[in-house]
Amino acid sequence: MRADRRGRRGTARRPLGRLARRLLGATLAAVAGVAVLAPAPAANADSPLRVHAEEQGFEIGAALAVNHLNNDSQYRAIAAREFNAATPENEMKWDTTEPSRGNFQFGPADQFMDFAQANDMTVRGHTLVWHSQLPPWVEDGNWTQSELRTVMYDHIDAVAGRYRGEIAYWDVANEIFLEDGSWRPSVFYNTLGSGFVADALRRTAQADPNAELWLNDYNIEGINAKSNAYYELAQDLLAQGVPLDGIGIQGHLINGQLPSGIQQNIQRFADLGLKVAITELDVRIQMPADQSELAQQARDYTTVMNACLAVDGCVAVTVWGVSDQYSWVPDVFQGYGAPLLYNSNYQAKPAYDAVHTALGGDDGGGPTDPPPGSCAVTYNVANQWNSGFTGTVSFTHNGTSPLSGWELEFDFPNGQRVTSGWSGQWAQSGSTVTVSNAAWNGTVAAGGTVSLGFNGSHTGTNNEPTSFSLNGQECTVS
Ligand code: XIL
Repeated sequence: MRADRRGRRGTARRPLGRLARRLLGATLAAVAGVAVLAPAPAANADSPLRVHAEEQGFEIGAALAVNHLNNDSQYRAIAAREFNAATPENEMKWDTTEPSRGNFQFGPADQFMDFAQANDMTVRGHTLVWHSQLPPWVEDGNWTQSELRTVMYDHIDAVAGRYRGEIAYWDVANEIFLEDGSWRPSVFYNTLGSGFVADALRRTAQADPNAELWLNDYNIEGINAKSNAYYELAQDLLAQGVPLDGIGIQGHLINGQLPSGIQQNIQRFADLGLKVAITELDVRIQMPADQSELAQQARDYTTVMNACLAVDGCVAVTVWGVSDQYSWVPDVFQGYGAPLLYNSNYQAKPAYDAVHTALGGDDGGGPTDPPPGSCAVTYNVANQWNSGFTGTVSFTHNGTSPLSGWELEFDFPNGQRVTSGWSGQWAQSGSTVTVSNAAWNGTVAAGGTVSLGFNGSHTGTNNEPTSFSLNGQECTVS
C-alpha cells in the first residue's frame, strides 16, 4: 500500500459559495456561446437532491459506511444518486486508522474516498481528535504532556497527510464540551489542557493546508450553554490567529422537540466569519413510527434545512446515514428509530420530500414514490373453516417507475389474526397488518403485480379489509 495518496487525485472539491455559484451560473449563461463549460442541466422538479443542491451551490451530504457500500447495491445507488457530499461514518476514526501506535490502517478510509471521488462528492473528514472510538492505547497511556502531544501530532500528520488535498473540511476536534459548557474530560483535555484544540488545528493546517478546519458537536443547534462555549472558544481562537474555518452542528434531534433559535445560532457563528454546517442530521422517533410522526419528522427536517439555507455561511446539511435500516439510533437511543430520509425498504419518506422541497424541488415526492392511487389490490378468502382461513392478496403497481422495496398495509375489521404468511415479511400489531417485500420481490416494475398469501384465524365473522395502502399511498380495491 502507498505511504500516501498525494498526486493520485485531483485537489479537494472546493465548493463555491452560494452567491459565487449563482453569479458564475449567470456568467456562463451570458457567454454560453464561448464558454467551454456548459452550465449543469436545470433540475427538474423531481430531480435527486444533489441536483437541486448544486443549483444553489449547496451541499447535501450523507454519512456513508464502506461495508454497506460494498454489500448493498440499493444503498450504494441512492448514495451516489442523491448526495453531493459525504462523511465517512467510522472509517477515519482513530480506532480504525491507528489501532495501535504507529500502525496505520487506511483500507476502509481509502475505499470511502474512492467512492466519494468517483461520484464527485465533497468530503468531510471525520474526525482527528475525539474522546470516543479512541483505542485504549491512547486513552490509557499515562502520557506526559510532550508524549501525548507527539502521539496526537503523529496521528494528525499521518491521517490528514494521507488525504492531503482531497478533503474539503476536517472535523479536527469533536465533542470537546459538556452540556453545561465546561470542557469534557478526556485524555487530551486532562493531559494537555484546553490548548490541545489550538494545537490540533495548527497541526492539521500543516498536514493539509487546503482543508478547512472545523470543530463539531451535538446539542449545539440552539443557543444554550454548550453552543455559547463554542461561540466563546471560536472568538478566542480567531483572536489568537489559530486556523479555524467552521463549526459543525451535528443535529441529532428528537422528533417534535427541536430547540428554537437554530437560525439565529447559525447566524451568530457566520457573523464571526466562520462557515457552519449541519453535519450529522437525524430526527429520531419513538418506535413504532406512525404516519403523523413521519409528518412531524418532515416538518422538523424542513425547519433545519430552512435554518441553514437562510444563512449565507451555512454551506451544507449532511444526514447521518442513508436508510433507517442501518442508522446508529436504535443501538444508542433505546426505543427510538426511523430517523432518516429513507425507510428500511429504501422508500423515500415524507422527510425526503421535505428536504427535496427545501432545496427547491417540488413537493410531489421523491423519485421512487408512487403517485397517489397508483396501486390496485385484490383480496380473497380462498378457503375457510371453523376458526381458520387462507387469504390471498395481490397488488398491482401502476406507477410509472419501478418500486424498489414496498410495504403493504391493511386493517382487519373483525379481529382476524395472521398466523403465517408467504411471499413477504408479515407482521401484525392490533388489527393492522403490514407486509413488506421478501428479499427476492422488492423490485416491482411499473405495471407489475405481486401475489401474497397467508393463513389466519377468525372468530366467526370474517369480512374483508376495505382499505389498503402501498408505501403509504391509498390503493384502489377490487
Ligand atoms: C456513530 C456511528 O454512526 C456509529 O456507527 C458508531 O458505532 C458510533 O459513532 N457523533 C459523531 C459520530 O460525531 O461519529 C457518531 O457516529 C455519532 C455521534
